[in-house]
Amino acid sequence: MADAGTEDRRRAYLKALEIDVYALRGQHTDAPEAEAELDAQDPDNLPAPDWTTLQARVSACTQCILHKTRTQTVFGVGSRAADWMIVGEAPGAEEDRRGEPFVGRAGKLLDEMLRALGLSRERVYIANILKCRPPNNRDPANDEADSCRHFLDRQIELVAPKIIVAVGRIAAQRLLQTDAPLGRLRQQKHYLADGQVPVVVTYHPAYLLRSPTQKRKAWQDLCFAAAMMKEGNE
Ligand code: URA
Repeated sequence: MADAGTEDRRRAYLKALEIDVYALRGQHTDAPEAEAELDAQDPDNLPAPDWTTLQARVSACTQCILHKTRTQTVFGVGSRAADWMIVGEAPGAEEDRRGEPFVGRAGKLLDEMLRALGLSRERVYIANILKCRPPNNRDPANDEADSCRHFLDRQIELVAPKIIVAVGRIAAQRLLQTDAPLGRLRQQKHYLADGQVPVVVTYHPAYLLRSPTQKRKAWQDLCFAAAMMKEGNE
């Protein structure tokens, strides 16, 4: 049975998280039903969010400073039952305006890269490390990436892709929690920390627009990913 001090702390915690606290409004009570209600609302006991709840939480997120400068959040797009998931860095200006990842020039190139693999935006799921645009497209700060991470982790859990392609150094390093340079991460099979989902790494399409001679290497990476998928399906 929780004492009054524990109860007050729990109430403050739930309120700070903007969790519905209707069951807490009355007097402290010893009734088992009320206790069960409280337990169900303890953030540690909350069920993992479904798509609707997750999207609503992202839209309402004020966990980092980027919420002050965003036009809107950029959640993710594509098939929620995709075998392939593409993870980029953060929305740019066009994505911030339209609320969809990879819709600018880099996005067009990403579409072409997918098409070359026989895929499309509709058949994969595309998301970013950050759901809000960093001003002037600066790199994500550590606290921004850290506080946004649980959203991406839940997207990955819900989609349950067979493979994740991390595009660009920042996405790769954040996803794999490493400082290794992109050149060393390419052409290898990595796994997320849970050891379940394979990850491959390639160049960011924005980089490929600036350095088109590297497109050949990006194609090698995509073929590497496709071979892994084939292997996994056999
Ligand atoms: N670059 C990214 O990494 N993500 C986007 O959504 C757009 C550009």
